[in-house]
Amino acid sequence: MKDSAFSRRAAILGTAVFPMIRIARGQSRPKPVVISSANRLNGGVNCCAKAMDIIKSGGDTLDAVIAGVNIVELDPRDNSVGYGGLPNEEGVVELDASCMHGPTRRAGAVGAIQGIKTPSKVAKRVMEDTDHLMLVGAGALKFAKAEGFTEEDLLTDESRLQWLIWKRSLRDRNGHSNWGPGIDAPPEQQKSGSLDLRELKRLYPQASDALLAEAIQNAAHPPHGTINCISLNEKGEMSAVTTTSGMAWKIPGCVGDSPIVGGGLWLDQDIGGAGSTGRGEENIRACGAHTIVENMRHGMAPKEAALDALKRVARNFNNDEKRLAQVDIQFYVLRKDGEFAAASLWGPGPRFALCTGDQGSHEEQCVYLYTRRA
Ligand code: GLY
Repeated sequence: MKDSAFSRRAAILGTAVFPMIRIARGQSRPKPVVISSANRLNGGVNCCAKAMDIIKSGGDTLDAVIAGVNIVELDPRDNSVGYGGLPNEEGVVELDASCMHGPTRRAGAVGAIQGIKTPSKVAKRVMEDTDHLMLVGAGALKFAKAEGFTEEDLLTDESRLQWLIWKRSLRDRNGHSNWGPGIDAPPEQQKSGSLDLRELKRLYPQASDALLAEAIQNAAHPPHGTINCISLNEKGEMSAVTTTSGMAWKIPGCVGDSPIVGGGLWLDQDIGGAGSTGRGEENIRACGAHTIVENMRHGMAPKEAALDALKRVARNFNNDEKRLAQVDIQFYVLRKDGEFAAASLWGPGPRFALCTGDQGSHEEQCVYLYTRRA
């Protein structure tokens, strides 16, 4: 990611001269930019392309990012967001989302909402139609239904199967699980406590090897997922959204960083926006998105601002790489002048999606703080 003209000017003149980033009178308008997390199956690329189409046809920047992430929320194959998201420990999908509209400086959020495929849209309704900023749980669902959203079962056959396989992986201190063969089973089945691919194939013959392998991985290392998307139009207006099904197998009622305005999402129309995917608990402890935007306010370039937030995450673990190896977290940043960055705690590997006025929607590599050893 190249340094912007702005960064060079700021470095020469000193950051105190630039308490806020402004598009100077007479200076050319910013080019439209949309940035998002990559997500599986081209989810981020499709999201950014959709948002850019709306921006180019004169649509509002928040409508644009929400239409973009709706593609991923409604796609049952992305099991970290919306419909088909991996459920909580009771097998119920619970979703979190937040949004911020730069021009009006407003925000909305929902936490632990069940039964609604597009929580990002509900977050926008909270912003527009209530005197509140955040609704959670049963109240959020009640509100969504009052607003005309349809309550649906968000568990797919694949996410249900992954949940059942996770249940089979659980053991009490005696090594016993109710979710597997009992004492009346033949001896060879009694032993089959661990998640063995051959045994799972016998139990779930309809499931593909790839799905079973993913389920074994997700049972041992519950993923966080999420999609964040930030946009900028030619008028310099910005908006942002983050939406997720949160940590797989979480305790019901658990809320991650995605609906926390300032944590999983922050946008200041005068400066820029930031958002996060990955382990929300660690992001909340660093107030990541807000930290990044404030870093930019004080003169850091987007890349530097994001890496600084990751350093704060690392500091909370005394920079202990062994413990940090269990933490997966990424930040996405878009400044008001169109300069952008995406940074991951660990790399190489993580990617992000980007669509600019000049280039079609595509993926690029995130910069990273620590190098993961093979
Ligand atoms: N980043 C989503 C979560 O941790 O809940």
